[in-house]
Amino acid sequence: MLTDRDYRAVFEASPDAMLVVDSDGVIRDLNRQASSMFGWSREEIEGSGVDRLVPAGVRSRHGQHRRRQAEAPRARPMGQGVELQALRKDGTTFPVEISLSPGELASGPEHVICTIRETSAWKRMRWLSRTKLEAAENERKHLSRELHDEFLQFLVAFKIRGRLLVDETDREKRERAWAVIADEILTAIRGVKRMIRGLRSPKLEQQGLVSALATLFRDARKVHGVTIRASVNLDWVADELDPLTVLAVYRIVQEAVTNAATHARVSEAAVTLRSADGMIFAEIRDEGCGFELSDPGVALEDGHVGVGLVGMRERAEAVGGSLTIQTSPGSGTTVRAEVPMVGPEREQW
Ligand SMILES: Nc1ncnc2c1ncn2[C@@H]1O[C@H](COP(=O)(O)OP(=O)(O)OP(=O)(O)O)[C@@H](O)[C@H]1O
Ligand SMILES: [Mg+2]
Repeated sequence: MLTDRDYRAVFEASPDAMLVVDSDGVIRDLNRQASSMFGWSREEIEGSGVDRLVPAGVRSRHGQHRRRQAEAPRARPMGQGVELQALRKDGTTFPVEISLSPGELASGPEHVICTIRETSAWKRMRWLSRTKLEAAENERKHLSRELHDEFLQFLVAFKIRGRLLVDETDREKRERAWAVIADEILTAIRGVKRMIRGLRSPKLEQQGLVSALATLFRDARKVHGVTIRASVNLDWVADELDPLTVLAVYRIVQEAVTNAATHARVSEAAVTLRSADGMIFAEIRDEGCGFELSDPGVALEDGHVGVGLVGMRERAEAVGGSLTIQTSPGSGTTVRAEVPMVGPEREQW
C-alpha cells in the first residue's frame, strides 16, 4: 500500500511539470519540474495566482477560460489548436502544451491539476519559422516608417523650398535659400546612409562582429552624443560562429544601444559582451529614465508601435537564445541576451 509520502514522490518524479490550482486560480502545489521550468522556487510561487505564469497580454483571456473551466470541470488539453505561451520568472516566454484534469482531491474537490510540457521539437520549429516571418514583416514595417520619417518628410520639404527658390528674384536671398537646401540634402544623405548601414551592415560582413560593434559605438557618440563604455571579450569566438548568430547578437546590441541613446536621456551607456560555457552573454545597461514595460507590440503613447523591443527578443529566440529586459520608470534599463554559440556547420536542432 503506498503512503502519502510515496504519492508525493510520484508527483515529484513526474517528467512533466505539474501544478495544483484551486478554484480561485491560486497555485496550491507544484513539483520540481514545474519549479525548474518556470524559474520560481516552491516557496516563491505557492499561494500566488496562476496568472503569474501567463504572459500579460493573454492574462484576461486566460482568466475567462479558467473561470469557465471551474464552472464545468472536465479533463481536457488547454487551448486546442492554439500555440500557448507561458511566462518564466525572468520575463521570457516559451511555448507549451497544457492538459487540465479535475483534481477531486480530498482536501479540495474543485482543484485542477495542470500538466505542462514544453512544446515538442517540431512544433517549436513551426513556431520559429512563423516567428521568422513575423520578424521579416516587422522589419518591413520598421523600414517603411524610417522611409516615411527620414526621407519622405525631406522630399516634401524639398519640393516646397525648391518651388520658392524658382520664384525668388533676389540673388542674395536665392543663395541663402539654396544654402539651407544644400544643408538639408546633406542631412538626408547622412540619414539614408545610416539606414543602409542599419540594413546591410557591410562592416559586419567584411570585418566581423567586434569591429562592427566598435563602429556602432562610435556612431552612438557621433549621432546621438552618447558615449558607450564597452567591454567586449569575444575575439576568439566571433569568427567561428554561425552568421545568423553573429547577426542576431549585432542587431540586439544595435537596437538596445539605439534605444539607450535615443530614449534614456543619458550621456553614456555600458555594453558588456562575453562568452562562457558555450553561450554568448550580452548586456546593455543605462542609468536613464527607464520605462513601463508593458506587453511588447502594443502601441506607444504617440501611437506608433515600437518594433525594437519585440524584434530583439525574437532575434534571440530565433537562434535558440533568450532575452530579458529589466526596467521601470526612473531606474534605468538593462537588456540581457544570451545565445548559444553555434558553429556554422552544426545543426541547431
Ligand atoms: N533604454 C531605454 N530607456 C528609456 N526608454 C526606453 C528604452 N528602450 C526603450 N524605451 C521605451 O520603449 C519604447 C519601445 O521601444 P522600441 O525599441 O520597441 O520602439 P522605438 O525605439 O520607439 O521604435 P523602433 O521601432 O524604431 O525601435 C520606446 O519608444 C521608449 O519609450
Ligand atoms: Mg527602438
